[in-house]
Amino acid sequence: MRNILISGGAGFIGQNLVHAWRAARPADRIVVLDAVTYAANLRSLDPLIADRSITFVKGDIGDAALVRRLFDEHQFTRVAHLAAESHVDRSIADPEAFLQTNVLGTFALLQTALDSWRSAGTMDDARFLHVSTDEVYGSLGLADPAFSETSPYRPNSPYAASKAASDHLVRSFVVTYGMPALITNCSNNYGSYQHPEKLIPLMVIHALEGKPLPIYGDGSNIRDWLHVSDHCDALMAVIERGRIGETYNIGGGNERNNRDVVGLICDTLDRAFAIDPKLASRFPSCPAASGNSCRSLISFVTDRPGHDHRYAIDAGKLARELGSRCSIGFEAGLEQTVNWYLDQETWWRDVTSGAYQAWIEKNYGFRIAV
Ligand code: NAD
Ligand code: TYD
Repeated sequence: MRNILISGGAGFIGQNLVHAWRAARPADRIVVLDAVTYAANLRSLDPLIADRSITFVKGDIGDAALVRRLFDEHQFTRVAHLAAESHVDRSIADPEAFLQTNVLGTFALLQTALDSWRSAGTMDDARFLHVSTDEVYGSLGLADPAFSETSPYRPNSPYAASKAASDHLVRSFVVTYGMPALITNCSNNYGSYQHPEKLIPLMVIHALEGKPLPIYGDGSNIRDWLHVSDHCDALMAVIERGRIGETYNIGGGNERNNRDVVGLICDTLDRAFAIDPKLASRFPSCPAASGNSCRSLISFVTDRPGHDHRYAIDAGKLARELGSRCSIGFEAGLEQTVNWYLDQETWWRDVTSGAYQAWIEKNYGFRIAV
């Protein structure tokens, strides 16, 4: 039985990790520390908080006194650090929060974990897993080999730069202080509970509401799509069996350009409406409700500044050392994800009310069709 701290456990990947961890290791005690920013959602954790299966603490990873109190109280021997500002477009509009949380927040969490483990004499048994991104490696050309753990860091967005800085801090703590930390760099996740600002949920929800599907630039940008449940399995393998001080890349092996992803979402929705006639009355504004294709909503808009062209991950080290491999193919994973958003209308309607509308205006108001 272990006590584990999951920072950012109310975010997209964090919620999935809480559920995956409970299923895999039911005896462990989980504490979630999350500041509950716009990106958080407690709906899936609420039942676990209510029946005390997990402990939820609303707070900032940068609040060293709070984090120290939590370490003293719970004697964590595992930290899975996912708390971050994570949306590239927001980092372009307003980078400061990214430096605050991703760099200074990570520093505070690292320092407090180190101090606590040193004073408790538990460094040998402890593990700190820092969850990072492939975006630290920059952008690939079409013919380039996929990112490996030795690829040079070339972050291009303020988000990627802040994550790169946090990776360097973690590494420096390993080398300088013997911190028992590991780093993972993963590709674009998708799946249940993803915030509707990100590509896949945004396109599904816009299509259901009959709104334009805004593809940045010409849509040729490529991402390597990783299903969040494959990601969570890999994170658990790395924290338990990975080598301290090592970096492990995690990828889905599913490179797709944005045009193809959005096209596939449209085809998946068109099929779902053809199979289930009730969807037409639930979502009458969707073109598929009247037998047309959602593809009719596709619209190419002003590109993202500094838009990385291609990400691809070589996940060979993870497979060789830990036997961990992604198993969910993109078409099957996307269908499951689209169905999740069809089933969870209340969830995304809650998220897309209020502050979300202000973000949509800020990010898309200035973009023109190209
Ligand atoms: P998310 O934005 O959905 O969730 C982040 C969570 O962190 C939110 O619940 C938020 O409230 C919390 N948080 C933010 N600032 C905080 C602070 N100062 N203190 C405590 N909590 C705070 O992000 P996600 O998609 O779940 O990503 C989780 C991690 O994985 C991040 O570190 C991200 O950089 C990394 N990552 C994500 C992806 C992806 O495709 N989603 C890909 C690569 C890496
Ligand atoms: P996103 O989900 O923001 O993830 P990231 O920027 O971390 O890769 O975007 C995924 C891809 O989709 C990226 O190439 C930008 C593109 N995109 C659009 O074309 N339109 C949109 O409205 C959004 C949100 C993203």
